[in-house]
Amino acid sequence: MKKINIGIIGLGTVGSGVVALLHQNSEMISRRTNCELTIKSILVNDITRKREHINEKYLPLITDKESVLFDDIQILVEVMGTIDKARYYIEKALKKGIHVVTANKDLMAKYGGELLNLAEKYKVSLSFEASVCGGIPIIDMIKTSFQGNRISSILGILNGTTNYILTLMEEKNVPFKSALKQAQKLGYAESNPANDIEGVDAARKIAILASMAFNTKVPIEKVHVEGITKVDIQDILYAKDLGYRIKLLGMAKEKDGFLKVQVNPVFIPLSHPLANINDVYNGVYLEGDFFGPSMVYGLGAGSFPTASSIVGDIIAASKAIDNKTYSWCTCFRDLKIRDVMETHSNFYIRMTVNDKPGVLASISSILGSHDVSIYSVVQKKSHEGHAELVIITHKVQEASMYDSITVLSSLSVINKIESIIRVEDEEQ
Ligand code: NAP
Ligand code: HSE
Repeated sequence: MKKINIGIIGLGTVGSGVVALLHQNSEMISRRTNCELTIKSILVNDITRKREHINEKYLPLITDKESVLFDDIQILVEVMGTIDKARYYIEKALKKGIHVVTANKDLMAKYGGELLNLAEKYKVSLSFEASVCGGIPIIDMIKTSFQGNRISSILGILNGTTNYILTLMEEKNVPFKSALKQAQKLGYAESNPANDIEGVDAARKIAILASMAFNTKVPIEKVHVEGITKVDIQDILYAKDLGYRIKLLGMAKEKDGFLKVQVNPVFIPLSHPLANINDVYNGVYLEGDFFGPSMVYGLGAGSFPTASSIVGDIIAASKAIDNKTYSWCTCFRDLKIRDVMETHSNFYIRMTVNDKPGVLASISSILGSHDVSIYSVVQKKSHEGHAELVIITHKVQEASMYDSITVLSSLSVINKIESIIRVEDEEQ
């Protein structure tokens, strides 16, 4: 039986799951792969810290940064996080001819292309399945099973924390701030959850997926990002009334040689498969020219689901050692990322207005003069001379939409534009 030694950097949520999985399923993995995987060293910050799921006493923990880490290993697993330090260790490993597995989306979204070029140069593999949607093998699907297709669009619920918050707001009528507290209490959100709720985590994930699916570099700063902090419970309730559900979606679509890549809250029809992915679950819905529509669903974070993807990559790397296969950057195209203001979307707009004759006419006239065509309009409630108007538009250029909003905001009969949310509906 072939023997492979592994070095691991990090033994937190993901690292301890990897160790637990390799321990629990080692015999089955050896029989399936004819390969014995041994953890040679685990680099941590604090050697005395108690770990989840595992007994750290029997593990080869080290704090020495380098002299031992790279000794006699064929695979390095980076589950430490951060960008610069992780990049340093990964580059070092690749240059030594060590295959690398990482869960680091922050690093891969920023330096994935460069690191893959390095992997090619040193003829080793660099795998990063766990960096997007934890336990869901979406990267492998794009890279392997769907590689004969031209993918035209990806829509994904890529962040479990925000999906949990939106679900709680809808199902239990809980306001955003309390739902966030609950997510933190359950360990879903980080103690500083800004990257989750502001959409940054999902942006890194859609940048990685889009780059793989469309074979082009997707600079993270070109991804338009809006989080869920402005989503009001009232919008969630109106969405339901109108036959939609609000989800934070990462979206990437190719059209006319341009790529549209963005993360923002979206109204999706209740009949869309993604509308029924709730709680902390993730889902990715793709369309390709031969496979048609396809969706994967599962846990996008957490110790064990993420460890599942890491170990899948470790096994693939152990095969790469035998087969002498290696990774390379597949960005052979150079698609331009369209500025969001040049893209077209349907919109939901909620505003409070004076409830008197002629108001609706002046609103529709301003929208019309900006080429914004109304798909539906509903007056939701009227109270003390004020009414709440909900408008859904046909597809409109984003710049025209926001220009019309600027003019509408200056109308004395409009008290407040309460919210503007994109609508993803192919029927309109
Ligand atoms: P974590 O719980 O904070 O664990 C980080 C580990 O790295 C800790 O064990 C820490 O050591 C170690 N570490 C940090 N800085 C170090 C340094 N300079 N030298 C040596 N060790 C160092 O993080 P995590 O949640 O497991 O996430 C790890 C990676 O997986 C990140 O890139 C994250 O984005 C990605 N990821 C996480 C999840 C998830 O569900 N958590 C899902 C998908 C991807 P000590 O324990 O000694 O402090
Ligand atoms: N914070 C992320 C989420 C998990 O809530 O989905 C790590 O990717």
